[in-house]
Amino acid sequence: MNEPILRRQFLAHVGQTSPSPLMIEVARAEGVFFHTPEGKRYYDLVAGVSVSNVGHGNPAVVRAVQEQAARYMHVMVYGELIERPQVAYAAKLAALLPEPLSSVYFVNSGAEAVEGALKLAKRFTGRTELVSMRRAYHGSTHGAMSLMGTPEGEEWKAAFRPLLPDVRSIEFNDFGALGAITERTAGVLVEPVQGEAGVRPPAPGYLEALRRRCDEVGALLLFDEIQTGMGRTGALFAMQRYGVVPDIVCLAKAFGGGMPLGAFISSKRIMDSLQTAPALGHITTFGGHPVCCAAGLAALDYLLEHRVVEEVEAKGALYEELLGDHPQVRGIRRSGLLLAVELGSSEKLYRMMELFREEGILSDWFLYCDTAFRISPPLTITREEVCDSARIVRRCLDRL
Ligand SMILES: Cc1ncc(COP(=O)(O)O)c(C=O)c1O
Repeated sequence: MNEPILRRQFLAHVGQTSPSPLMIEVARAEGVFFHTPEGKRYYDLVAGVSVSNVGHGNPAVVRAVQEQAARYMHVMVYGELIERPQVAYAAKLAALLPEPLSSVYFVNSGAEAVEGALKLAKRFTGRTELVSMRRAYHGSTHGAMSLMGTPEGEEWKAAFRPLLPDVRSIEFNDFGALGAITERTAGVLVEPVQGEAGVRPPAPGYLEALRRRCDEVGALLLFDEIQTGMGRTGALFAMQRYGVVPDIVCLAKAFGGGMPLGAFISSKRIMDSLQTAPALGHITTFGGHPVCCAAGLAALDYLLEHRVVEEVEAKGALYEELLGDHPQVRGIRRSGLLLAVELGSSEKLYRMMELFREEGILSDWFLYCDTAFRISPPLTITREEVCDSARIVRRCLDRL
């Protein structure tokens, strides 16, 4: 199919999410790069929005996918048959996560993980109120979208009301707002590092205070580690970096090693409440697909065997050092290899995106922050690639 026809068919027949898609064709991807059919190479500083943590085309993941696809793909809806890739992945996670997070419910996506976690919190506590943070992003389905904080989230939510009732939002990092969590609250959902808010790490002591408040009133603490999990912040899970254990954690994105997979994980005691009254309270046909679990497990093994996570903090700090002193940069917010480089104006940011495109860099801005660009490459990026890509970013900054 020639290029103009392909582009026309893309616009006509592939459902669009914005009036101005990037429209760069991908021919192949490996490591931290993807290539167009014309042979142009891009540094992928988005990694599929924190998905490709072990790099594109990672041979260990490709092999796991091929082997499992040849053995069996989908057989029966989630939770009925014993499928080895699911069991092996769940057991490994249980061993790596702090206690009592030992029961893994596999789903298809981040939004579905959040849906399952919210339902579990309501079912376990018998309460209805859900609390989330301003500028939070938890997914695009009705339930997950309801938890986008007010007022900033209204830009997306308003057109789709009515959404979930009994939802309130509080300011992230505001210790004074914790009193809004009460005996009526089923669960508090929080990204330990806010991602789409433009990378906002927690204030010292904030997650601990949130944990204490939830314990005081009997509300469950739910961490959305969909973007921060699987090494992104410099620990395998951000909860380990910040030393606070939630009652439920949601994973997705890098969790599937590049394949679609999510999970909500809790203690066995909490999770078991989903089995009865009603039975089948959350069901999913493709959740925990054996090929996706095999890919996710291979990616996790790769992270562990190659000690990838141990170098994340240093590589993130290197980007900060290489870019932080440029006169166009107003500041850098960072957790591990998740960086928001602040330019201070959306006009500059849009121009920067054009320059990036010319120079072979894929970056992006954030849902709630269109004045900063994102750097969240595969965690396997080498120090040389950090330096080289930072040099190109600086060239774009010079041209701003
Ligand atoms: C923190 C967070 N939660 C949830 C989601 C939703 O995940 P998904 O797009 O797989 O539904 C995202 C996606 O960007 C996210 O960043």
